[in-house]
Amino acid sequence: MNYKLLDFKIFGDERGKLISLEGNMNVPFEIKRVYWIFDTIPEQERGKHAHKDLEQIIVAIDGACQFVLDDGTNREKIWLNRPDVGLYIGKNMWREMRHFSYGCKLMVLASTHYDESEYIRNYQDFLKLVNKN
Ligand code: TYD
Repeated sequence: MNYKLLDFKIFGDERGKLISLEGNMNVPFEIKRVYWIFDTIPEQERGKHAHKDLEQIIVAIDGACQFVLDDGTNREKIWLNRPDVGLYIGKNMWREMRHFSYGCKLMVLASTHYDESEYIRNYQDFLKLVNKN
């Protein structure tokens, strides 16, 4: 499974806490794009795609949601619910996001610019691709 959970260093003192992410340092790629997902709805699922070229780190800055990760052979469920933990997802991994808490905010760091042509949005196409590799 081409994913891992990263524990980020927290700079904390009596004023609060801070986490810093830097490309090719504690983020294992050059950061080309940042986006965030908010105003989510618990019963609405998102994702349901894979990427041919993209690597990402996703952080639940606030709230929680469940990720389903699938490499075409195995399927695992992970709760993302801490602002100091990043979920790294590599290439060719099917992902679904669901069970969003109210007010959940996901920040995503991406290794490429947005390119719809490198998305795989059909699960059968995804299975064909990974089983061919
Ligand atoms: P979508 O891929 O459906 O979101 P999710 O990550 O939940 O699967 O993206 C929603 C819309 O936003 C879709 O029209 C594509 C657009 N979009 C961009 O224009 N740029 C981006 O960087 C991203 C991630 C999405």
